[in-house]
Amino acid sequence: MSNDVFAPSAAFVAQANADESRYKAMYEASVADPAAFWGEHGKRLNWIKPYTKVKSTTFDYHNVSIKWFEDGQLNVCANCVDRHLGRGEKTAIIWEADDPKLSKRISYRELYENVSRFANVLHGMGVKKGDRVILYLPMIPEAAYAMLACARIGAVHSIVFAGFSPDALADRVEGAGAKLVVTADEAPRGGRNTALKANVDKALKRVGGDVKTLVVKRTGGDVAWDAERDNWLHEEMERVSDHCEPVAVNAEDPLFILYTSGSTGKPKGVVHSSGGYLLYAAMTHEYVFDVKDDDVYWCTADVGWVTGHSYIVYGPLANGATTVMFEGVPTYPDAGRFWEVCAKHGVTIFYTAPTAIRALMAKGVEFVQKHDLSKLRLLGSVGEPINPEAWHWYNKNVGGERCPIVDTWWQTETGGILISPLPGAVAAKPGSATLPFFGVRPVVLDEKGEEIAATECEGVLAIADSWPGQMRTVYGDHDRFVSTYFEMFKGYYFSGDGCRRDKDGYYWITGRVDDVINVSGHRMGTAEVESALVAHPKVSEAAVVGYPHDIKGQGIYCYVTLMDGEPYDDALKTELRNWVRNEIGPIASPDVIQWAPGLPKTRSGKIMRRILRKIAENETGSLGDTSTLADPSVVEELIANRAG
Ligand code: PRX
Repeated sequence: MSNDVFAPSAAFVAQANADESRYKAMYEASVADPAAFWGEHGKRLNWIKPYTKVKSTTFDYHNVSIKWFEDGQLNVCANCVDRHLGRGEKTAIIWEADDPKLSKRISYRELYENVSRFANVLHGMGVKKGDRVILYLPMIPEAAYAMLACARIGAVHSIVFAGFSPDALADRVEGAGAKLVVTADEAPRGGRNTALKANVDKALKRVGGDVKTLVVKRTGGDVAWDAERDNWLHEEMERVSDHCEPVAVNAEDPLFILYTSGSTGKPKGVVHSSGGYLLYAAMTHEYVFDVKDDDVYWCTADVGWVTGHSYIVYGPLANGATTVMFEGVPTYPDAGRFWEVCAKHGVTIFYTAPTAIRALMAKGVEFVQKHDLSKLRLLGSVGEPINPEAWHWYNKNVGGERCPIVDTWWQTETGGILISPLPGAVAAKPGSATLPFFGVRPVVLDEKGEEIAATECEGVLAIADSWPGQMRTVYGDHDRFVSTYFEMFKGYYFSGDGCRRDKDGYYWITGRVDDVINVSGHRMGTAEVESALVAHPKVSEAAVVGYPHDIKGQGIYCYVTLMDGEPYDDALKTELRNWVRNEIGPIASPDVIQWAPGLPKTRSGKIMRRILRKIAENETGSLGDTSTLADPSVVEELIANRAG
């Protein structure tokens, strides 16, 4: 924990949307009377029917219920698009393709026309208010059109990251009960094309039923075609009008479902609302990123993750900002791509993940120095704690020591940023997410679930009261929502993260305290990787843990026990790696596989993951209490044969 403090320059503070005293006054007002605060700020959205009730929320375990603006009606798409038509020539989206020669600017007027047509296409295919639509797309403008088109007609989108496998896609199509999958022929990334349509074909073979597809022609590559089921988007778009009346939805109607990994079993469908979510995304975007009308704002995430939902599409567009959407990867054609794009489009605000910074740092500073980054004025970080080394590199080489860095802590479940400095108000400390956003009441709990009163402390991070962007439920399983987030620590939203609070009240996230690991800023349930491994016919048992990884933050370390009589040969390791990639997707690819003819278990047969984590971390000197092990020799053998 470093004690360096980096205050924003006087020049930055002078122009900021909030300085220190404004932040403090607004924060205090927001927690003293949340209903009054959000009731006032809710007016920044256009409501078809204004709300009279603002906050109806309880974290009471027996009765968890979260509703904001519950009697209000609005349309999310109209708030992100139609509302800005008064200055319709402003650029809404700057799209930068994987190929550095290709980019385009889409004005708010063009966005309106494309989204309206897209919404009419959805209507024409029978999609109605409340229906779920799966989006499995590259980072192309059509992804934003599809999201907004769903919102326009009140349909619920569920985006599946294009790096997920056909099996993972099929699970989500089934889980959401979707009747339509929007996809593209292929997804270009880093100079290579992924066959998205072919993946959809495989997934739908498994799902069965009457699921249609709508396909964007992105590359023109060959695809198999089922005339009964498949539809080209460009053909359908030509047939429909460019006017589509936005429907009124209730503030609490779901806007989207996004599947995310938990500590047990299958990914859960996180459900976000229309009114509260949009308000929270827009407010955090304006204040955390200090957004002004002439900014060019770039969040490098993919729309397949929550960061892309809130901070590429909904937050920026609700604010009428110019948002960059990038199809490629940071290292193609070379490791200067991010900076080339910043220079090319005059990016002023840049938001990325520590794993990307570390990867680029390793390639050398020459790649940054080649490009003109003088327009940049603010930097952001998200996804995992940023290590001070990466922070300093980012600050010096990208930000030229003049750009504040906002380290934003949040989760798929929280809808938007909960803890982050407002850049003109709060001095940064490298590695700390610093202080809460308006309306957010973080608490540090001890293992008994008691709030720790002392300012300086360490424990688990929970939130004491609701904020408008909070998830409302797990799709189709409200009990799972309650038991995951409200059971262990009664009366609080439990984040799953550990944290420290320092003498200045700053929060330092220390990482997950459950069986979720964070690989390159992506959440992965160890249980998911384990169930993929044991689905292989030669595997009898598997235990998966995270371990420190220089670039990815955490890597995936797998202990695998084979069926009796199966030879432990290394060729099988490659086969298992590919197997997991096929079952889940490349993001779940094991970094290390260690053969484990025996796993450390308690006498009641429970795997002692704590010990496996220590071995993976190579901290074998501090295994802790091993007295409950059924067979201590297993541990010695694992240590002796430690992989990597
Ligand atoms: O452990 C925290 C880590 O990422 C988890 C949430 O992952 P996900 O739902 O995929 O959302 C990622 C993007 C919002 C958290 O529980 N995390 C996210 N941001 C930070 C972070 N850890 C430390 N510092 C952050 N800024």
